[in-house]
Amino acid sequence: MTERKPVTLHRLRAMHRDGETITMLTCYDSSFARVLDAAGVDVLLVGDSLGMTLQGHTSTVPVSIDAMEYHTRCVASGNRYAWIVGDLPFGSYHESCEQALRNAARLMQAGAQMVKLEGGGWTAPVVRFLVERGIPVCAHLGLTPQSVHALGGYRIQGRDDAAAGLMLAQGRELAEAGAAMIVIELVPSDLGRILARELPIPVIGIGAGAGCSGQVLVLHDMLGITHGRKPRFVRDFMDGAASIDDAVARYVAAVRDGSFPDESTHGY
Ligand code: KIV
Repeated sequence: MTERKPVTLHRLRAMHRDGETITMLTCYDSSFARVLDAAGVDVLLVGDSLGMTLQGHTSTVPVSIDAMEYHTRCVASGNRYAWIVGDLPFGSYHESCEQALRNAARLMQAGAQMVKLEGGGWTAPVVRFLVERGIPVCAHLGLTPQSVHALGGYRIQGRDDAAAGLMLAQGRELAEAGAAMIVIELVPSDLGRILARELPIPVIGIGAGAGCSGQVLVLHDMLGITHGRKPRFVRDFMDGAASIDDAVARYVAAVRDGSFPDESTHGY
């Protein structure tokens, strides 16, 4: 048996190059970090979705950098091998590159190995500024939950040719600015496939079809703890599982063998 090594940016790039699907889940505390890491999840995302899953808000907008720093520290303390991405919350990178650096540094010092920020072309200078200072950055396009009020709700993005073309151009601009990974959320499967094929960096999908370089779900959703309507792209992995560990192992196996997401059930 080969010895397990910590996931690095180099390893994520190699997985993308070799067509090995990347597994990612959100994670907010030390206990779950242990469970997810033991199941072989490649990337733990300390997502600002914790504003909804843990704090009970109706969006991610109220989440503070203090909360993100705290939960990043919790996740890092339980993790051994997975790559940790910390979300920069709403308002924490919008003012200036210097503000983004200050807040990204807090997440990195709490244990993140990469920070994620949402948005298109306007974030490219921020991405470049952070990357030049040694902070790996994950971009996020499609449905960007921090902009939910501007987008008019949690709606599918990139449906028409113009919107799809714009998203591809934004993805290229962000990769060119130095983003090392990108999350795309709630887009038609065809667009997910095009983005994964055209962009030179791993494209991690959530509600973006089976053609992405990797998949991410919100932990609570895949454990069947969804309040309100379950989004179409979610599978409850607790259904038929013997334990939480088993459910997470099934998620990892299903993403790796391509049986999740299933285009006809979970795609748009
Ligand atoms: O905060 C989060 O959980 C996310 C995922 C939806 C990708 O950004």
